[in-house]
Amino acid sequence: MTLIFAHRGSSSSHPENTMISFMEANKAGADGIELDVQLTKDGEIVIIHDDKVDRTTNGKGFVKDLTLAEIKQLNAGHHFKKGTFEDTIPTLQEFLTWFKQTNLLCNIEYKSTTITNHELEDKVVQLVRQYQLEDRIIFSSFNHYSIVYSYRLAPEIETAPLYMEGIYMPWVYADSIRAKGIHPHYKVTPNELIILAQQNGIAVRPFTINQEKDIKRFMEVNTAAIITDYPAMAREIKNNL
Ligand code: G3P
Ligand code: CA
Repeated sequence: MTLIFAHRGSSSSHPENTMISFMEANKAGADGIELDVQLTKDGEIVIIHDDKVDRTTNGKGFVKDLTLAEIKQLNAGHHFKKGTFEDTIPTLQEFLTWFKQTNLLCNIEYKSTTITNHELEDKVVQLVRQYQLEDRIIFSSFNHYSIVYSYRLAPEIETAPLYMEGIYMPWVYADSIRAKGIHPHYKVTPNELIILAQQNGIAVRPFTINQEKDIKRFMEVNTAAIITDYPAMAREIKNNL
């Protein structure tokens, strides 16, 4: 059965990467949450996609140049549906405190990482271990150096590389970096690839699948999971398969 990961929460109905969006995804029947993490100026882990706060909040500037106290003043719902919702940018700690009470899985995507500075990965792993959530977390990143680093740091926590362009035999590549899954763009994920990867023990979780016909296609071939902005629609499709 294909698992449903809510991309930035239920981001089609609620402001992305907010607690209200994550709670809505849980209510809608998602199996997991996908979210993005970065560090503030004072080294706190916050959940936000862009490297700047401008697109989603009423503030301006780079996340890395703002303190947590400054970030907490902002409304993360400011630009969504004419500001109908109000919520702050959550810290990863706030999220994990809530998440621990649920039965959800979580895909934490490392954002804004580099080849050599691994402060973000170090802090995230430490927090996940503190909450004893190792078996409910999957780490992903477009920066595959982060994936390798994360595996070395915490081999007990699953990893998966994100990618946009097709990779030749991605299950072999995944194996070579000790990842148990791959998170490809859905347009470079044909059915044959899913079947072969999963026969070779690599879970396929494509992103971001928002059309009914695409959700059906991935569910019909038993893709391990899909990542979608529409967890409620995906749940309905899954229930009627
Ligand atoms: O994890 C899948 C997806 O979130 C990757 O792209 O830009 O939405 O973080 P992006
Ligand atoms: Ca993401």
